[in-house]
Amino acid sequence: MAFTRITAAEAAAMIKNGENIGLSGFTPAGTAKAVTRELAKIAAEEHAAGRPFKVGIFTGASTGQSTDGVLSNEQAIRYRAPYTTNPDFRKHVNAGELAYNDIHLSQMAQELRYGFMGQVDWAILEVCEITDDGKAYLTAAGGIAPTVARLAKKVIIELNSFHTKSAMHLHDVYELQDPPYRQAIPIVNVADRVGKPYVQIDPKKIVGVVECNIPDEARAFSDASETTDTIGFNVAEFLVNDMHRGIIPSTFLPLQSGVGSTANAILGALGNDKHVPDFNVYTEVLQDAVVGLMESGRVKNASTCSLTVSNDCLYRIYDNIDYFKDHLTLRPSELSNSPEVIRRLGVIAINTAIEVDIYGNANSTHIGGTRMMNGIGGSGDFERNAYISIFTCPSTAKDGLISSIVPFVSHSDHSEHDVNVIVTEQGVADLRGKSPRERAELIINNCAHPDYRPLLREYLKLTKGGQTPHYLPAAFAMHDTLNRKGDMHLTDFSEYIK
Ligand code: COA
Repeated sequence: MAFTRITAAEAAAMIKNGENIGLSGFTPAGTAKAVTRELAKIAAEEHAAGRPFKVGIFTGASTGQSTDGVLSNEQAIRYRAPYTTNPDFRKHVNAGELAYNDIHLSQMAQELRYGFMGQVDWAILEVCEITDDGKAYLTAAGGIAPTVARLAKKVIIELNSFHTKSAMHLHDVYELQDPPYRQAIPIVNVADRVGKPYVQIDPKKIVGVVECNIPDEARAFSDASETTDTIGFNVAEFLVNDMHRGIIPSTFLPLQSGVGSTANAILGALGNDKHVPDFNVYTEVLQDAVVGLMESGRVKNASTCSLTVSNDCLYRIYDNIDYFKDHLTLRPSELSNSPEVIRRLGVIAINTAIEVDIYGNANSTHIGGTRMMNGIGGSGDFERNAYISIFTCPSTAKDGLISSIVPFVSHSDHSEHDVNVIVTEQGVADLRGKSPRERAELIINNCAHPDYRPLLREYLKLTKGGQTPHYLPAAFAMHDTLNRKGDMHLTDFSEYIK
């Protein structure tokens, strides 16, 4: 059957206060964006008329301004999971205006299936093609599309002609069954495809198709700097060394690298290092740097959940689809981030932390222990299950006023048990095989900024034994001094000694 064409405003008008919406996409890539803009207008009108209007939003990962931005600005989000990067949304979350549930991205589809976040009333899927029997071909991301399309009572399709039909060739759609029926995921090589190229939707649930032409809201990252380039170089040198020692095989292992300028610099450094053989990427977010490396043949095959690339770069893929369809696969997040597959393939995970402590615990999410930055994203999925788990960060933030190496992290996302290696522009701390006290020496000597090393050593002298020595009255002295004086450089710990 041919589906009714409706406008985005007509689609949005069907969504009622209190309902939950599951969206396609992962990062702004592939996220539905026509209907949510209209929904924000409805929320504004309802609020102006003194009526409540809030919805729950379920996604694969972050979205763009057209969802998290406009809806949070109109106070239209009651509940949101899992990850976001939107600055407006961040402001509203940190003001305590809405419920934000920051969970591992690999678990989102399963938690929806179990109903922990409520029922899925609507699914809104961005597609490049929809067939009359309900085969939906996604655009630039896999996300949680197959799960929300199946669970939702009703489905709205955004047929976005900005994405060419080339995107039809990139997807490997597969939904896990829940225990005890779950089977092994048969991905043993990065390029293996195990599912279908489309999401099958019950046609009776599709209430209409919104035709639109809206570019992906690609996020700009800050330019590479001397610091990010040095971190990239340090990571590449460390991995080459591990390869020469036989820890990484000479054929290399698949890489996952987080988002942002540091991640781009690391991949650039690895791509340029002649000692690193051509390699594969098994990741959740593919950035421009990897597309360039695929074009030059340095990256042979890549599996990802989303193409979080500039729009120019996206078109380089679409225009050269005959090449990319054989080397690039887009999967739903429960596959791209699957702990089982990450362990099996021996993925080397490299993600950025906000701060790490002298024992190797890492904070990826909270500034000052309380204010949400973005969320954990896939960092936990990859780092906990990686063959080598690496965290990078500049040794300082805010022009040196903040040390990223602290006595105790102010919020813990990745425990010391899950972190193998820390890399800053100062150097590398290889924590594998080390006890907590040995780790503290390595992290302070190799990764902390020289300005902060004496202070961190002085902190260690205050500790009085134990497996993981701490002097709790001073464990947050650097954070406390930052809060009070805007600078972590305290002279000594005397005022914290009880
Ligand atoms: N204390 C206070 N602020 C800090 C800080 C610290 N220790 N470390 C960094 N910041 C600030 C920076 O100054 C910057 O502030 P600004 O936005 O006002 O300029 C902001 O945090 C982001 O830091 P930046 O250096 O630009 O980092 P980035 O773009 O590389 O992002 C994370 C770093 C940690 C925020 C980002 O990687 C993230 O969200 N990670 C969690 C999710 C994840 O790892 N996903 C990976 C799988 S794709």
